[in-house]
Amino acid sequence: MAAAEVKHMCGFNYRFVPAVRLARELIEAGEIGEIRHFRARYMQDWGADDAHQAWRFDPEQAGSGAIGDLASHVVDTARFLVGEIGSVSALVRTFMPERKVDDAVEAAVEFHSGAIGTIEATRLALGRRNAFQWEINGSEGSLAFDMERLNELRVFHEDGERARGFKTVLVTEADHPFAGLAWPPGHIVGWGDTFVYEFHHFLSAIAGKNSVAPYGATLEDGYRAAEVCDAFVTSSHSGHREEIAYRVR
Ligand SMILES: NC(=O)c1ccc[n+]([C@@H]2O[C@H](COP(=O)([O-])OP(=O)(O)OC[C@H]3O[C@@H](n4cnc5c(N)ncnc54)[C@H](O)[C@@H]3O)[C@@H](O)[C@H]2O)c1
Repeated sequence: MAAAEVKHMCGFNYRFVPAVRLARELIEAGEIGEIRHFRARYMQDWGADDAHQAWRFDPEQAGSGAIGDLASHVVDTARFLVGEIGSVSALVRTFMPERKVDDAVEAAVEFHSGAIGTIEATRLALGRRNAFQWEINGSEGSLAFDMERLNELRVFHEDGERARGFKTVLVTEADHPFAGLAWPPGHIVGWGDTFVYEFHHFLSAIAGKNSVAPYGATLEDGYRAAEVCDAFVTSSHSGHREEIAYRVR
């Protein structure tokens, strides 16, 4: 990729949710201190309909089930906010009869930084339409997010005040991420806007105004997420924790 000298980007659009980008900026600024925990779950329920026919259930076309479709986004978010994942211990399951791809994955992960976490993804969480939720705990505070309330970031600071607690930040202020591309403060954005911000970022990179990394995902980020997803499968088969080698650098 480097030798080809082309701009490349992997469409991990959740990096372009304003609240997710704000979380990254708060972490970079040291606002929650040293990160200890990352726990995330991406839950949908449309896979519970066994009459549903889609390319997403064909291993030839889709490659995998909830792992590639949902867990890949969780892995990228984990890498984006916390850093590289070093090892995983996972359970991968197909519950639906006749289905040829996975329905769900549950994994415990360890980051190179020493932080530990959990990653879950399922298409069988009845009532959960698109619930991508995560929480990060650091030595100075915590951050929490729910895709079904994507304009909001929940922030806790261990600042000693008696009335301390999580506060909900509406991430639409003029100094918040992507504000220059968005409506005025309080005019909330939606899932589709993340793709607008993503394409703006990529086209700006092609025009030489910014680089794709670190705020956009490159194809190398896509590859690294795939290595982690492969390790979920390997770990589930072996029953052991799998170290991730990242064979391409
Ligand atoms: N958050 C995300 O980044 C995100 C979310 C959803 C889907 N996706 C990805 O977007 C892609 C599409 O997903 P979807 O849910 O819209 O799928 P879909 O099945 O609803 O739509 C796919 C479309 O592609 C068309 N198509 C298939 N083969 C084609 C071909 N050879 N030439 C031209 N058209 C062809 C189909 O007719 C269909 O209209 C997938 O790669 C999926 O993984 C990403």
